Amino acid sequence: MKNFLDISDLSSQALRGIIEEAKKRKSSRKDLNKSEPDNDKPFYGRSMIMIFEKPSTRTRISFDIAVKQLGGSSIILSPEGIHYGKGDETLKDTAKVLSEYADIIMLRTSSHENLKEFGKYLTIPIINGLSNQSHPCQVMSDILTFEEEKGNIEGKSIAWLGDGNNNMSNSLIEAASKFNFTLKIGCPKQYQPNKKIVSWAKKNKTKLTVTNDPRDAAKDADCIMTDKWISMNDKVNKSKKKKSLKKYQVNKKLMSLAKSDAIFMHCLPVGRGEEVTNDVIDGKQSVVWTQALNRVHAQKSIINWCLN
Ligand code: CP
Ligand code: NVA
Repeated sequence: MKNFLDISDLSSQALRGIIEEAKKRKSSRKDLNKSEPDNDKPFYGRSMIMIFEKPSTRTRISFDIAVKQLGGSSIILSPEGIHYGKGDETLKDTAKVLSEYADIIMLRTSSHENLKEFGKYLTIPIINGLSNQSHPCQVMSDILTFEEEKGNIEGKSIAWLGDGNNNMSNSLIEAASKFNFTLKIGCPKQYQPNKKIVSWAKKNKTKLTVTNDPRDAAKDADCIMTDKWISMNDKVNKSKKKKSLKKYQVNKKLMSLAKSDAIFMHCLPVGRGEEVTNDVIDGKQSVVWTQALNRVHAQKSIINWCLN
């Protein structure tokens, strides 16, 4: 059984296969309506259960559409509405029951451990729809978006500005190793990538640079990426964190240091005027709406990878 929990769990070849299938499926359904199934309906008669411990717009809707396009159906649940390891039912029993009803699970959780724990008892695959530690589905669709705009990501230079120690930056570091691109993280000392991911990156020969100077990170980049300064899980002094991230804001001046044809990416939701200015996110170099759309296409391939 194949779970999709972290980019680091898969080989470069498997990850490349997911991206290529996404490109192929996306281009072959150009004439179909948004929720019309692909001609081969590989998920026909099957279903996905999604559980959201935390809010979501894109992940919730893009997975739902992905499943429809694969010809299947989805059921969206919140932990409050079900026996989710609470009261008289253990997580193990909930997992066993869900395994009888559906063919695949997607979980968005506050604790990465929940994914592993739940996955241990399920007899069907589980996909990580964001945890405190990683956001692999988002980063896979970002690779797809990057390659549609700029060609193969291998050897390209990506700059990550702002919080260097969150779920997105962790998955991006893993992707830099697997897809062989250069990643320059510009962040303050107190929000640098954690020791565990840095030592993983070293062991896996990742082209990773961490700098406290945002200009060094942005210089000559093919793409500048950022994320909300305060993540859903953050239990921090918000105003203090925002103050220390201020000089890592992606604005016109910072964008001008990147290549002239560089793109701007953000997984959304966005803190406008904080990590990015309106003129950048709404400007010509921004591809953020395509990123949101591509969640559908990358996740279709992730589901297929899990089931094949
Ligand atoms: N980017 C992303 O995962 O968005 P949601 O929180 O809306 O799902
Ligand atoms: N780092 C953000 C990503 C949101 C999609 C968060 O966890 O809130």
